[in-house]
Amino acid sequence: MEAFQDNKALQELMQRSDFANRLNASKTSYSQMGIQLQTVPNEKCAFAECDGSGVLHYINWTKKADAIENPTKYYMKDHEIEWTEKCKCVDQSEFERKVTSSGIPVKYSKAKVHGFGIDCYKKSESQTAARIAKQMAINYVEKYEELLSFKKNGLYLYSTTKGSGKTRLASSIANGLIKLHKQSVLFLKATDISPQVRKTYKKDSESTEEDVLRAFRNVDVLIIDDLAVSTEKDFTEDLIGRILDYRMDKGAVTIITSNKTIDELKEHFPKGIIASRVKKMCYEVLMPEESVRDEEAEQENREFENLLFGKNEGA
Ligand SMILES: Nc1ncnc2c1ncn2[C@@H]1O[C@H](COP(=O)(O)OP(=O)(O)OP(=O)(O)O)[C@@H](O)[C@H]1O
Ligand SMILES: [Mg+2]
Ligand SMILES: [Zn+2]
Repeated sequence: MEAFQDNKALQELMQRSDFANRLNASKTSYSQMGIQLQTVPNEKCAFAECDGSGVLHYINWTKKADAIENPTKYYMKDHEIEWTEKCKCVDQSEFERKVTSSGIPVKYSKAKVHGFGIDCYKKSESQTAARIAKQMAINYVEKYEELLSFKKNGLYLYSTTKGSGKTRLASSIANGLIKLHKQSVLFLKATDISPQVRKTYKKDSESTEEDVLRAFRNVDVLIIDDLAVSTEKDFTEDLIGRILDYRMDKGAVTIITSNKTIDELKEHFPKGIIASRVKKMCYEVLMPEESVRDEEAEQENREFENLLFGKNEGA
């Protein structure tokens, strides 16, 4: 226990009840057996159990004392006296690492399908659409393993209205698939696809076109956000067409958001390559035709005006 008492930072943290509770909960069962955690916890660990290294170091003092008196009894059994365990935070940070490297927008890195709002839509038909889309997303994450065996296992989230929650819902689904099904995810803005490939054509590029395409093809779940807004049509159509072709053959999951229906994709990508692939690979999901972004902005305006012009009771 001395190590704890000497540590001023830890003592300060222990003033916080949430921290103290978590720490005590993790200590009591072991300490009754004479086992003491040697790792000094700090806030770098999401669970406040380790020092952020992900390793918990324990000593069983009862056995250690016993072993000093009876060395032969414990010969070769050091692990009973002193050992390390993996902290819970290791899996948690694995999840966080996957989310950050997936390209999911930071804003949505913690979004969950269960947290998708319904009341933020004003019109009742929007709420109905949101409710259906939300339930679909929850089922999709829960029954993902079963859905994988279907050829048409992707999603196409669309609404003509911007700001209706397409990107948010797609990100929430992705977070669920990473967390519950350990899937690798790549979130691509449709407009970034061709620049990323073109970059590899430069002389000093470290990766080849093939490297980039391989990543787009082989990832478990590919999300293409805002398909059909780019102006550079021909190159993009061929490129996305090739990626989809490969993923379709593999039965890999692709989730797309767009402001166009699948049929309207033909107008944007006139060769028709993309529309026909998407039709085979993705289920069309109608998102509400109402912008939550506008409502959010208005709400923020009101709050800001309140701050600026509202009466301050304290002053
Ligand atoms: N159901 C929801 N619950 C809570 N917030 C939401 C919901 N839907 C959208 N939002 C918020 O509204 C804003 C716009 O959402 P989002 O970016 O997902 O829209 P979008 O349909 O992808 O828009 P665009 O067509 O411009 O790409 C975001 O700030 C998002 O957090
Ligand atoms: Mg979007
Ligand atoms: Zn930890």
